[in-house]
Amino acid sequence: MRYPGGKGRCYQHIISLMPPHRVYVETHLGGGAVLRHKRPAEVNIGIEKDARVIDRWRSLGTASVEIIHGDALDFLEGYPFRGDELVYCDPPYPRSTRAKARIYRHDYTNADHVRLLSVLRRVPCMVVVSSYGNDLYAEHLSDWRCVEFPGDSHTGPRTETAWLNFPEPTNLHDYRFCGADYRARERLRRRRAGLVRRIENLPAVERNALLHDLACRFGPELASTGSPG
Ligand SMILES: C[S@@+](CC[C@H](N)C(=O)[O-])C[C@H]1O[C@@H](n2cnc3c(N)ncnc32)[C@H](O)[C@@H]1O
Repeated sequence: MRYPGGKGRCYQHIISLMPPHRVYVETHLGGGAVLRHKRPAEVNIGIEKDARVIDRWRSLGTASVEIIHGDALDFLEGYPFRGDELVYCDPPYPRSTRAKARIYRHDYTNADHVRLLSVLRRVPCMVVVSSYGNDLYAEHLSDWRCVEFPGDSHTGPRTETAWLNFPEPTNLHDYRFCGADYRARERLRRRRAGLVRRIENLPAVERNALLHDLACRFGPELASTGSPG
């Protein structure tokens, strides 16, 4: 699904920022590139205000995702958060960052952005917000962690920014997309596969002794990673 402002070329970076979570919420769904590529959580929710976008999602029949036709803020203000949710928010880009005056049927004024950011600051769970770098977000999220990564726009490559309300994680929800670019991801994947093969090829007792040592040494860290990615 190609979509204006879609994350089809940089979802790997965004997914690799996400710690393990039970509930995944994507508040400005559009083409939902991140939601479509990441390992699903136990509960997955997508919210979108544009009825035509909702129709497209419903026609795809996404049984494992609850698709909500509505306003992101209404959802965020009404959801009974428990703390183990991750909200990913990719709102329309602020007017100052784009050449075209209008891209979406439902757009955001600066006042809408400020309202959204102030609600996101109060949401009691992990939050990731993405946009192009801009003063308004830099000011309102000045105490959040900020990560830049290569993205795309209709005019060519463009740096995207993510703001996050949690420290850099050591455990991820989905390890498949770690690495700065395709080559780094492939290198990492091959290294992991090579190590697993070497362990597989050990005599059974030696392999189990090693697994026992690893469990003793890293057990608590492994337990918090959730199921394998
Ligand atoms: C930048 S796009 C999201 C692109 C998406 N991340 C992707 O990968 O395709 C922003 C989306 O927010 C939607 N939107 C605008 N206002 C909204 C609101 N108040 N609540 C929910 N969605 C809204 C727009 O219709 C648009 O689909």
